[in-house]
Amino acid sequence: MAEQLSNEQLIGAAKEFGTPLYVYHAEKIKEQYLKLVDGFSILDTKFFYASKALTNINILRYIKEIGCNVDCSSINEVKLALHAGFEPQNILYTSNGIAFSEIEEAVSAGVHINIDSLSNLEKFGKKYGHSYPVGIRMRPNIMAGGNIKISTGHEGSKFGIPVEQLDKIEEVVKTYNIFIRTLHIHTGSDIKDVDVFVKGIEVLFELIPHFPELEVIDLGGGFKVPYIPGEKETDINLLAQKIKESFDNHPTADNKKFQLWFEPGKFLVSECGYLLAEVTVLKETASTIFAAVDTGLNHLIRPMMYDAYHHINNISNPSGEMKAYTVTGNICETDTFAANRELHEIREGDYLAFLNAGAYGFEMASNYNSRFKPAEVLVRNNKSRLIRKRDDMKDLLKSQVELD
Ligand SMILES: Cc1ncc(COP(=O)(O)O)c(C=O)c1O
Repeated sequence: MAEQLSNEQLIGAAKEFGTPLYVYHAEKIKEQYLKLVDGFSILDTKFFYASKALTNINILRYIKEIGCNVDCSSINEVKLALHAGFEPQNILYTSNGIAFSEIEEAVSAGVHINIDSLSNLEKFGKKYGHSYPVGIRMRPNIMAGGNIKISTGHEGSKFGIPVEQLDKIEEVVKTYNIFIRTLHIHTGSDIKDVDVFVKGIEVLFELIPHFPELEVIDLGGGFKVPYIPGEKETDINLLAQKIKESFDNHPTADNKKFQLWFEPGKFLVSECGYLLAEVTVLKETASTIFAAVDTGLNHLIRPMMYDAYHHINNISNPSGEMKAYTVTGNICETDTFAANRELHEIREGDYLAFLNAGAYGFEMASNYNSRFKPAEVLVRNNKSRLIRKRDDMKDLLKSQVELD
């Protein structure tokens, strides 16, 4: 089991590289990946890391090194994956709402593709016919995920082709003789209940007989990791067991076996990441003690965007007396990281560590308020190395066209 990074290691990184700083622990990513591989050893399974969670090129290379494949949500992520050294057959592009030109680029690159609209499926059929195996992203009409903003498979969701449009899909597939290799669903993020995945696969079993060339069932990502102390992650062994039972209970007419694919993002990289910030100002008011830090929603947007909980440790004073603080950012918006949270006594200059910052942390960061994006550090074999420099003024100006 990979130990958490110690407070001393984190403080050392904050002092060496400055704050705000994202720190990632390589061995934790591997530990999470091995849980998936071990749990699913009872089925023919492949994992594609949902790189949207964190695309630093060194993270992508580490993912490749541990033997995992990669899932992309834009053609640029595909290009980053190729740049990181992934072979096209180990890259999956699960698209949504994209221009057909991106699908053409993905075909030229030779990667796997999941198409999520009838419109693009038809264009694909016209251009490629049976020559390029492809997947269809279905909308199973299942409500899942920790929060409506991260639910993607329910009725009314923009993602995938609704299952009730099966006849239309069949018409397009027949007209152009499209080689449907994969059926895909992704119902949401933060899914603890393994039965949600089973429900999804049950929906797909209804569709399987309609696609005789099918080889792959792709159940997307969405495994839960603990954010709040005491929370549990998705029970991967139980999930694998239940999916196996589900397959066993639905033998295909010719006893054909499918390969199972998953696209985990958070499960692989959430817990490996820490956002380190320095407390800049303590402000005591009648109702609240505010602790302002040198970061904000520009660097970690999840609390404001999804009401997400991120645990906060005062790593400079880990045995200080417990007191309630409202931890806020330095952005010109309300950017509350934690409201009235019990934390070890905070002093100006203390370092705070925001946990679970690996997934959708840096990746969603912006330069709002013309603040620099943080630096990133990878800790591997207890050695901390810079993997992204902090922005500077040149970065703020580099794409701007200054008119005479
Ligand atoms: C198609 C698809 N696959 C995988 C993921 C990864 O989800 P998670 O990070 O919850 O595992 C997402 C997340 O939005 C997604 O949209």
